[in-house]
Amino acid sequence: MNEHDEIRRIIKAISRLTIGIVMVTGLIVTLLIYYMMDPNVPAITEWLTKTETTNNEDPDKVENGIHVRTGLIEAEGLMSVINNCTNCHSAKLVIQNRMNEERWISTIRWMQRTQNLWDLGDQEEIIVNYLVNNYPPLKKGRRQALSDIQWYKLEN
Ligand code: HEC
Repeated sequence: MNEHDEIRRIIKAISRLTIGIVMVTGLIVTLLIYYMMDPNVPAITEWLTKTETTNNEDPDKVENGIHVRTGLIEAEGLMSVINNCTNCHSAKLVIQNRMNEERWISTIRWMQRTQNLWDLGDQEEIIVNYLVNNYPPLKKGRRQALSDIQWYKLEN
C-alpha cells in the first residue's frame, strides 16, 4: 500500500462522513418543515398562542361591536365562526375577505377538499349567514344614495 492509496482512503472516508451528515441534517430539516406546515399538529403554534392569551383576562371581550381577541364583528353566529374558523388560521384571513353567499360556500368547500376542514354540519348555515351578513362584498364604483338633502327652488 503506497502513500497515494492511503490519501485516497482518507478522502473517501471524509466524503462518506460529509454525505452522511448532509443527509441526516436534510432529513431533520425536512421533517421539521413538514411538521410545522401541518395545521393539525398544533404543538408549536399552540404553545406560542397560549403564552399570548394567558395575560388576556377575558378571551371573549367585546368592544365597540368587535370581538377583541379575534377582531371579528360581534353578531349572531360569532361563536360558531370562532369555534370552526380560527383553528387553522387567524381570523384575519376571514375578515380580509368579503364575498357573497355562493363564494363563501365555495371557499368552505375548497378548504374541505384541500385543507382538511371538517364537515360543519348544522353549523354551516349559521356560519355562512354570519359571513354573508357581516362580510359581504364591498360595492365599488357606486356612491351612497343621497339623503337629507335640502333642495332649493330656482328663482326666475
Ligand atoms: C382545517 C383547517 C382550516 C379550518 C378549520 C378553516 N380553514 Fe380557512 N383556510 C385553511 C387554509 C390552510 C387556508 C389557506 C391559507 C393560506 O393561503 O395561507 C385557508 C384559507 C382561507 C381563506 C382565504 C381563501 C383565499 O381564497 O385566499 C378564507 C377566507 C378562509 N380560509 C375562511 C375560513 C372560514 C370562514 C372557516 C370556517 C368555516 C375556515 N376558513 C376554517 C384552513 C382552514
